[in-house]
Amino acid sequence: MTLNARARHYSTARFSGAILVLTVFLSCSAIAEKSGGELIGGAFNLLNHHNEPVTEKDFLGKFMLVYFGYTYCPDVCPTDLQIMSEALRMVDPAIARDITPVFVSIDPERDTVALMAQYIRHFHKNLIGLTGTVDQVRAIKSKYRVYSAKSDNTANYLVDHTAYTYLMNKDGTLLKHFNHALPPEKMAKQIMALAR
Ligand code: NI
Repeated sequence: MTLNARARHYSTARFSGAILVLTVFLSCSAIAEKSGGELIGGAFNLLNHHNEPVTEKDFLGKFMLVYFGYTYCPDVCPTDLQIMSEALRMVDPAIARDITPVFVSIDPERDTVALMAQYIRHFHKNLIGLTGTVDQVRAIKSKYRVYSAKSDNTANYLVDHTAYTYLMNKDGTLLKHFNHALPPEKMAKQIMALAR
């Protein structure tokens, strides 16, 4: 990555910070109104990193930690996936067994199944990578209220994106969302309080 690209990424990151704050506020108030988190989550059709078609039904019956990002992400995604993985390793094993960590690509044009399979190995042994067609990804992004946009039209584009980690209940509804860069100890503590 060139210095220029990096500088551009940081400036988009600052810009997305403002959007993030606004989105957090909007989604929190929406969740409070509905008091069940039903506005986040729902049906989807994607491919897992074994190239098998999966839907939301394949994840029911377990809690889910879901993060949306892309494998070319220079910093935000690796940081949050690392945090998610560390938090999961800190959680009581009896609880962690019941939690499926999931990484959903918001860059399906570059994130092939093979690339996802290779990428997730850097984080957690149970992490599941999901990608799909542009339309399939657009659909799940809308269900989870994820915002993302390419930085430019070059081949090496960055993707500006919201960076929440969602804790989903066993029935596929939202329990809680964690913000970018939350210390893993804090995430682990909240997971243990909620995922039981
Ligand atoms: Ni990212």
